[in-house]
Amino acid sequence: MKKTLLLLFISAVCSSAYSQTPVPSWAKETKEQKEKRLEWWTNDRFGMFIHWGIYALPARHEWIKHNERISNESYQRYFDNFNPDLYNPKDWAKKAKDAGMKYVVLTTKHHDGFCLWDSKFTDYKVTNTPYGKDLVKPLVDAFRAEGLRIGFYYSLIDWHHPHFTYDDLHPNRPNDAAERAAANKKRDMNIYRKYMKDQLTEILSSYGQIDELFLDFSYPGETGKGHKDWDSEGLIKLIRSLQPQIIIDDRADLKQTQWGWDYVTPEQNMPKEWPSENGVKLPWETCQTFSGSWGYYRDEYSWKSVHQLVAMLVEVVSKGGNLLLNVGPTARGTFDDRASERLDGIAQWMKLHSRAIYGCTQAPKEYKVPNNCFLTYNPTAKRLYVHVLEWPFLSLYLPEYEGKIKYAQLLNDASEIRYSTQDGNVVLSLPVARPNVEIPVIELVLE
Ligand code: GLC
Repeated sequence: MKKTLLLLFISAVCSSAYSQTPVPSWAKETKEQKEKRLEWWTNDRFGMFIHWGIYALPARHEWIKHNERISNESYQRYFDNFNPDLYNPKDWAKKAKDAGMKYVVLTTKHHDGFCLWDSKFTDYKVTNTPYGKDLVKPLVDAFRAEGLRIGFYYSLIDWHHPHFTYDDLHPNRPNDAAERAAANKKRDMNIYRKYMKDQLTEILSSYGQIDELFLDFSYPGETGKGHKDWDSEGLIKLIRSLQPQIIIDDRADLKQTQWGWDYVTPEQNMPKEWPSENGVKLPWETCQTFSGSWGYYRDEYSWKSVHQLVAMLVEVVSKGGNLLLNVGPTARGTFDDRASERLDGIAQWMKLHSRAIYGCTQAPKEYKVPNNCFLTYNPTAKRLYVHVLEWPFLSLYLPEYEGKIKYAQLLNDASEIRYSTQDGNVVLSLPVARPNVEIPVIELVLE
């Protein structure tokens, strides 16, 4: 009896850590309803992130205004020269589609405050640059025409808005604390909070159904900003009222609630395992870059290879997550060659292997991961995919697989792979020559 009470107590403590605040009436949703809302996203697994803005002109990081502490006056030169004359989002959409991406998330506004649409609430927008036209609508139309879903990124941070108070990240912050406090007296976050609501209302009611919203980001603390500064609860309420089905990231500093976010967003690293909280596996999407920065960076030479990127996609799905892979278009409005080459490489692989990605997730524990492999698993089709990172000589051992499989084939050409059993293990008989694909996959039809 005592033991049961103790267990009840522990589980109560754990679940209250998971959801410390009461759920507001407008946010009530059952676990099943949430799963249903996330169903397409969990199935699709792979999206394109696009970071685009006037920081593409300096071409040395989307945080350049911060990194180089550039004043509004000197940053203005990028605004005054922004003219992406080669912008044709149909090309981008085609590349994303070919690479097997199923949704796109576009930076409508990044931290520098520049808006890619014709917002009624600011002059700091693309329609006032030499380009003079809205960038968002043509992109939404082009990607939809290719069958991709649409997501928006919206920066909570805004280094241009005159009422966004100076904090430790602000490029134009006075260094002296007293000076900063005095300058902030003239700034009113109420006005900025209203601005965010107005803008979110705009972008979430002008382009039809929006499927994902990426709010970015919080850095709570005395000299930072968190949910109180943003009025995150008010934002989420507004967003859900405008787009009830939308899937929202976890960067509005509402992690202590159950309702203020839908998925977690580890970035620029690979989680060791499926992220979880108190034993509950969380929906997750990792966003990753080709070369390190998000915006176009001409002189960055740390580009990942096609092999690394395909392996990354596979690893993410093998841990039950989604990959949002970023492109930073140039200020002419194109994907540069290095990006196109990566996307083409991924496209080639996806053309033959996408069924080892879509609808797939982490394999159940009973299927041990063979050496040098990742496993993905389709629970509906009851198939297991063995992604072979290093092609072994003739034999691939599947530990304790005896009695678990009924057929095996290479996925790239559906050629049979014969197998035998040995001490409870299955031994696949591989051809000597490694199939000529980035990562060969063996499809196992399960018993
Ligand atoms: C970080 C960076 C930002 C980038 C984002 C993508 O929050 O501030 O530049 O947009 O990550 O997730």
